[in-house]
Amino acid sequence: MKSKEDYIERVLYTEEEIAKRTKELSTQISEDYKDIAKPLLTVGILNGAVMFYTDVVRRLTVPVQFDFMIASSYDENTHTSGKVNILKNLDNDPKGRDILLIEDIIDSGTTMKYLVNYFMEKKANSVKVCSLLNKPSRRKVEVKIDYCGFEIPDEFIVGYGLDFAQHYRNLPYLGVLKRSVYAGK
Ligand code: IMP
Ligand code: MG
Repeated sequence: MKSKEDYIERVLYTEEEIAKRTKELSTQISEDYKDIAKPLLTVGILNGAVMFYTDVVRRLTVPVQFDFMIASSYDENTHTSGKVNILKNLDNDPKGRDILLIEDIIDSGTTMKYLVNYFMEKKANSVKVCSLLNKPSRRKVEVKIDYCGFEIPDEFIVGYGLDFAQHYRNLPYLGVLKRSVYAGK
């Protein structure tokens, strides 16, 4: 059986670089929310954001409540379908809450735009977006990213939670997937 590394073109960000950046984001977020009245509702978008979520929230110095959603605008390939389904919704009522959406990557922007609008309609007090990666060259709809880990070129990234057809999520670093793996899909 091939090792996972056989599918990786190159390492984009190492474990150490990711750890440094997530700490910086936690510091910035803690500072920005230091005066909030109710705990910050940190909403992780499963499954891709799991590793990023835990690394960011564990260093927040403001009170937080955990919550998670599963939203899907993606099929089992590298092309977004443009339609967003909520497969798992929040356990908490978003009304009046300060919400921090924590996502793995903003690509076309479809998923995040939909979720931000969704929480505004549910009368959240505020909605901010924290994304590990941003691929601005692929944007189809505009999304404001309040906290961004890294801006990346148009390549397909796996590891540290990100998958290709549910594979490679457990790589501890962020890597560029070899084009030969998804060519023709
Ligand atoms: P968007 O709605 O097009 O912005 O898509 C966002 C979702 O697409 C992310 O949450 C990921 O699940 C997936 N995605 C986009 N680009 C990549 C990538 O390079 N690697 C892994 N997943 C990706
Ligand atoms: Mg995702």
